[in-house]
Amino acid sequence: MPNRRLFVTTALPYANGPFHIGHIMEYIQADIWVRFQRMQGNAVHFVGADDAHGAPIMLKAEKDGVTPEALIAGILATRPKYLEGFHLSFDHWHSTHSPENVALSTDIYRQLKAADLIYVKPVEQFFDPAKQMFLADRYIQGECPNCHAKDQYADACEQCSQVNAPTDLINPRSTLSGTTPVRKTSDHYFFKLSDPKCVAFLNEWIGAPGRLQSAVANKANEWLTGKGDRDLGDWDISRDAPYFGIPMPDAPGKYFYVWLDAPIGYLASLKNYFDTGKARKNGETRSFEEFLTSSDVEQIHFIGKDIIYFHTLFWPAMLKFAGRKVPDHVYVHGFITVSGTKMSKSRGTGISPLRYLEIGMNPEWLRYYIAAKLNSNVEDIDFNPEDFIARVNSDLVGKYVNIASRMAPFVARFFGNCMPALPSMNEDSGLAAVAKHSEAIRAAFEDREFGRAIRLTMEVADVVNAEVDRYKPWILAKDAATNPQSKDRLAAICASTLATFKALTLFLKPILPALTAEAEAYLRCAPLQWSDLELPVRPDRFLPAGHEFGTFKPLITRVDPKQLDALFDTIKPDANGEAPAHTAEKPAEKPAAKTTISETSTATPTEITVDDFAKLDIRVAKILSAETVEGADKLLKLTVDIGDSQRTVFAGIRSAYEPDRLIGRLTVVLANLKPRKMRFGLSEGMVLAAGPGGSDIFLLSPDTGAVPGMKVK
Ligand code: MSP
Ligand code: ZN
Repeated sequence: MPNRRLFVTTALPYANGPFHIGHIMEYIQADIWVRFQRMQGNAVHFVGADDAHGAPIMLKAEKDGVTPEALIAGILATRPKYLEGFHLSFDHWHSTHSPENVALSTDIYRQLKAADLIYVKPVEQFFDPAKQMFLADRYIQGECPNCHAKDQYADACEQCSQVNAPTDLINPRSTLSGTTPVRKTSDHYFFKLSDPKCVAFLNEWIGAPGRLQSAVANKANEWLTGKGDRDLGDWDISRDAPYFGIPMPDAPGKYFYVWLDAPIGYLASLKNYFDTGKARKNGETRSFEEFLTSSDVEQIHFIGKDIIYFHTLFWPAMLKFAGRKVPDHVYVHGFITVSGTKMSKSRGTGISPLRYLEIGMNPEWLRYYIAAKLNSNVEDIDFNPEDFIARVNSDLVGKYVNIASRMAPFVARFFGNCMPALPSMNEDSGLAAVAKHSEAIRAAFEDREFGRAIRLTMEVADVVNAEVDRYKPWILAKDAATNPQSKDRLAAICASTLATFKALTLFLKPILPALTAEAEAYLRCAPLQWSDLELPVRPDRFLPAGHEFGTFKPLITRVDPKQLDALFDTIKPDANGEAPAHTAEKPAEKPAAKTTISETSTATPTEITVDDFAKLDIRVAKILSAETVEGADKLLKLTVDIGDSQRTVFAGIRSAYEPDRLIGRLTVVLANLKPRKMRFGLSEGMVLAAGPGGSDIFLLSPDTGAVPGMKVK
């Protein structure tokens, strides 16, 4: 009998685009926790789904010239390659555009109505007469009434930061059709979140000890008590046609707002998982309804920090007053940034998870790296390429995998590939470290303190590696065939390291499912469960003498820095003929699977027009700082003042310039070059220079009198 029954979800991604690294990070976090729970012998039902409704999806489909159904089906079809690719062990994946979701949403809405929590109120909004639709704020632009900046959204003005309502904007226009929107009134349906019974319930729900992370509970409480950055308003849950969503019952032309049916999609996915017999295969014999009304089921949502409001106020209140089970926990994570930059598709930053897989990078490197950075707080984490390489290569490969690859050959050669008898455990042995840390590691996983779990696991690995260094098996092996004393010592160190390796495999299994499965194959053991590690460790049961091992295969390779270049879109040669920065590095053993280096063109440029030239934003710039870049012999990292802002630019000029000589001087920069993600950071422009390269590179500079920001025309 499992101890706990867990219903676990991740936030449902919008079905208007492929997964990005933020999605994958969320799934990795949840997946590690889920795999850990399964290893505890708990029953887990881990489901996801696409969030397929809403105006953006409707409009994107229209733009692409397809139906919304076709758009979301196309996206849904892309999901498995990511989920399988990163070893994400969802038991089921469904869609909010499904019969189950229509039925459940309609049902829950009716129950809320019966609970007297729904009312209708006329709302005046902008309406696009050309598109014949109401416009959400993000589709309206106009002039800021304060500073008169053009093309501002109904939000904080980009120029003066004043927050404008859509109706404040001067000359508002619809970004969809360009026409001037008109004001129009229509009836909207509201969920009465401000009702005293909702507030009383939420107070209790939010305040339940251990339900939410304290920072999240505080935030939710602020909103609930009207002290936060937004009011606890009633919630507008209807949208007028045209809309891609679920039609509201008894309200022609009205649809549920996407955020009403989205979380209900958690239940819809679970229902489909039950109805298709998968729950039964996963050991759950009860029906969907029975399961969800059982008091022993824990409902847990993993989400990001941007959607706390929905998950800690509306969602529990909706469930409660529809007479349903409420969530037991909402676990919130921060955002992932890349080299300190917020990801943005339009600026070409971020990491494409698909590209990661396509260039043959190991998904478990990313799982390991993300795990190492995660804790249970709502903190952002940064993907830093140098750090990534170091972590994976030194910890994962250097410490864990290394143990087996060092010792397996000795075991094969001297002991018939069988486990020698373990010596009695001394305090400095790997197994003593296992005994010392295993409970803390277990607790760290349970508490989603994955960084701590990894740190403690690596402490164990350090102990056993130090043990190997003390015994020096490579020296013992020289005369082990003839000297019984050497052979005994060799047996002792082999036994100790392999037993410790087995424990490390167990500790790392939630994070590295494929790698540890290979380790299990070598160890010839059944899939490891946490209960295999009894305390105190019983070597005779954990890995008895005489146990035969399998054939050892190298378990995982090191990260090749060139793969990071390929991931970030390899640096292309600059106009001044500089070679890509990475050619300056020492050649790696294996070429990157795929690069996008283009040949430097020597052909005469084709003619361009004045209009073509006008596209170039070339400006006078002042070099504020210049530094060398570790790992890139040809680059300098420059900070330049281009008049209205400062930019970071990586320039291939190190062979010709001492950084100190550059500081304070004026030069010329192409400012509207598409930012380029490099291993060392984001390059936001190009410094213009002439010359063949090497020490013959000549930076351009303007005549005296020019100031930063002046445009070159
Ligand atoms: N569709 C809604 C969620 C509905 S849940 C009933 C949505 N979708 S989303 O695609 O925008 O985001 C899905 C999840 O990804 C959210 O939990 C969000 O916080 C998370 N992330 C989006 N960008 C992220 C990062 N940069 N880093 C980590 N997680 C991020 O919101
Ligand atoms: Zn303004």
